[in-house]
Formats: sequence, structure tokens, C-alpha cells
Amino acid sequence: MTEKFLKITALSLLSLTVMLTVITEVEARKKKPNNYKMKYVGALKCDGSCHDPYYQAWKNTGHGKAFELLKPGIRAEAKKKAALDPEKDYTTDPHCLRCHTTGYRQRGGFRPATHKKPTPIDPQEPNKEQVGCEMCHTIAGGSEIRKIMKNTKGDFDKADTEKHGQRWDYSNVCTRCHLHPKNPFQPSLDKKYEFDFKERVKNIHKADKYWSEDNRDQKLEKIKKRTKQIAQSEKTPVAIEDWKIKQKKKGPKLYLRNKPYNKVKRKERREFKKAHGKKYKKSDEWKKMLAERKWFNYQK
Ligand code: HEC
Ligand code: HEC
Ligand code: HEC
Repeated sequence: MTEKFLKITALSLLSLTVMLTVITEVEARKKKPNNYKMKYVGALKCDGSCHDPYYQAWKNTGHGKAFELLKPGIRAEAKKKAALDPEKDYTTDPHCLRCHTTGYRQRGGFRPATHKKPTPIDPQEPNKEQVGCEMCHTIAGGSEIRKIMKNTKGDFDKADTEKHGQRWDYSNVCTRCHLHPKNPFQPSLDKKYEFDFKERVKNIHKADKYWSEDNRDQKLEKIKKRTKQIAQSEKTPVAIEDWKIKQKKKGPKLYLRNKPYNKVKRKERREFKKAHGKKYKKSDEWKKMLAERKWFNYQK
């Protein structure tokens, strides 16, 4: 009787240990960055338990409300001046979404109401339907750099996250929207659209008044060390993207043309599938391709 009991206990303990090991291994794998899987996650994920004061401050800036500008009747005078129709609803118009939302037409990015699976919108908690954190801080979405920030509790070097898509070329990043040739609001139209980085950057993060007892542990103590580092993107800024809008049966569709990120295209994957079958991701050739790939396009 007791012998049987002991056996059962030993067996269940063993299987519990095996289970726990498997779970922690799965977790570890999940947290390992992987450029191939980069995607947009939204501002709420950056808020989470990490950057609450920045999120609270951002909500009340023009960037945190940029999607609202696409609605009919909003800023009618400015729209008229730019030869846009003030009564038109632009919230699903590809001509506007690349600069007024987060990650439009990229993995994990914003999908408008005309999409078969639109991104849910909560008016209390702005997320992907605005110019979110990831539009300025990442190249192809924050999913992978978020893992590094969490794993290191904020104690990372610029190069660690840059390898997986964080960008530090702040003065360059603004021009992917401000002064971009596809922006209808050019300085030639009105002087107020001129862009002086040093002046404008002062209004990006007014997070100071949102620090509290609850989020004090989120202060970036390690930031001083990082300000001395110079990242690759600061030496050679990331390319400024451009896109083309093609008229399709269902309406206009945006295609990224010049882009800062070299995603693995379906066509490329097909080659590996042909050579190695369904489990091509286990092949040495696939792993070699990922390791040697130049993921980012820098300016020449
Ligand atoms: C290339 C990026 C880009 C595209 C494309 C773009 N915008 Fe904008 N938009 C901006 C930026 C940047 C500003 C802020 C300009 C400033 O304040 O200097 C802005 C400002 C605005 C404003 C406020 C202007 C004001 O003076 O109050 C409205 C309204 C607006 N955009 C609507 C649209 C609409 C509608 C479309 C599509 C037809 C569109 N935008 C396409 C980047 C873009
Ligand atoms: C329009 C571009 C832009 C957006 C959107 C943006 N940031 Fe930033 N962020 C910057 C720039 C530029 C800096 C560096 C200068 C500064 O700190 O003001 C920065 C710095 C930071 C820092 C470092 C602060 C420090 O002490 O140096 C954190 C953390 C941060 N941003 C988080 C966020 C989060 C979270 C969001 C979204 C809720 C966000 N940012 C949205 C441009 C942006
Ligand atoms: C993805 C597009 C995008 C990027 C990238 C971007 N902006 Fe903007 N920005 C906008 C839009 C759209 C507006 C218009 C908001 C409005 O008029 O209400 C705006 C407005 C602003 C404003 C004034 C409005 C306000 O109340 O905040 C400042 C200041 C500004 N941007 C600074 C910057 C700086 C500095 C950077 C680079 C670090 C940057 N922006 C990058 C799209 C962008």
C-alpha cells in the first residue's frame, strides 16, 4: 500500500518537473527576439507595466489624437486650404493612414473599418489608430525590442535593441511624416508646417507631471549610460520610406516601395519550402539566411 503510494508520488513529482521544464523552455523561446517575426503591438503594450507616464502624456498630444483629424468636419479650414474635402471621411483612405495610424499595411499594424478584420478602437485608450510609440521608436514594430526591454529590466545597450528594430535616429524619424512629399500640409501652404526639430521635440514627451507613487519604479535609471552610446542609426539614419497607391477593384491600395525594413517575403519563403518541405524552418539553409540577412536599409 505505502509502496504503491510512494511510487505514485514519485511519478507525479517527476511528471510535474518535466512539465515545468517544458513550460519554462517554451516561455524562454517566446521571449527570445527574432527579427523574422517583427510586428506592431500598439501603444497599450508599451504602457503596460513599463511606460505609463509616457503613455498618459502621449494620449494628450497631437500624435495621440492624429486619427481624429481624418474624420469629417475636423479642421475644415486647414483641409480646404490643402485642397482636401472637409466633409469627406478619410479614416479608411490609404492616402492618409500611413502617417495617421500605427503600422498600416505592415504585420500587426492598424487595419481600417473597410478591412475584413478591422482593428478594434476604444476611445478611452488610444492604441494602433494613432501615431503610436512604434512609429517613432521602431523600424517594423516593437514586438521584439519589447522582449529585450523586459528581459533586461531596462538595462540594455542601444545596439542590443537596434539589432531587432529599435531606431535611435530621432531627428530623421520625424521626416517620415513631417515634410514628407506625400504630406498634404507643406510649408509652402502655410508657414506653420515648417519643421524645426529642436523646437518641436520639446513637445513630444511631457511625461513629468504623470509620475506617481504607483509608477515611480518605471523611471529609467539606466538612461544616462545610454545617452553616451552612439547607435548605428544615429551614424547612418534609416532610409525614409515611400509608397505607391495603386487603384484596385476594391479601391485604392498602398504598397510600400522604399522601406527601412527587409521583411522575408512569401516568394522567398516559397523557395525554401520547395527545397526542404513544410519543415523548412528547421533547415540549416533557412537559419543561415536569417543570420546573414541585412534586415535594415540605412541611408547612403
Ligand atoms: C506623409 C505623411 C502624411 C500623409 C500621407 C498625410 N498626413 Fe496629415 N499630417 C501629417 C503631418 C506630419 C501633420 C502635421 C503637420 C504640422 O503640424 O506641421 C499632418 C496634419 C494633418 C491635419 C491637421 C492640419 C492643420 O493645420 O490643422 C489634417 C486635418 C490632416 N493631416 C489630414 C490628412 C488627410 C485627410 C490625409 C489624407 C488625404 C493626410 N493628412 C495625409 C502627415 C501626413
Ligand atoms: C512623434 C514621435 C514619438 C512618439 C509618437 C513617441 N515617442 Fe518616445 N521619444 C521620442 C523622442 C524624439 C525621444 C527622445 C527625446 C525625448 O526624450 O524627448 C523619445 C524618448 C522616449 C523615452 C526615453 C525617455 C528619456 O528619458 O530619454 C521613452 C521611454 C519613450 N520615448 C517612450 C515612448 C512611449 C511609451 C510612447 C508611446 C506612448 C512614445 N515614446 C511615443 C519620440 C516619440
Ligand atoms: C507617423 C507620422 C509622424 C511622425 C513619425 C512624427 N509626427 Fe509629429 N505629427 C504628426 C501628425 C499627423 C501631427 C498633427 C497633429 C495635429 O495637428 O493635431 C503631428 C504634429 C506634431 C507636433 C504638434 C502637435 C502637437 O500637439 O503635438 C509636434 C510638436 C510634432 N508633431 C513633433 C514631431 C517630432 C519631433 C517628430 C520626430 C521625433 C515627429 N513629430 C514625428 C505625424 C507624425
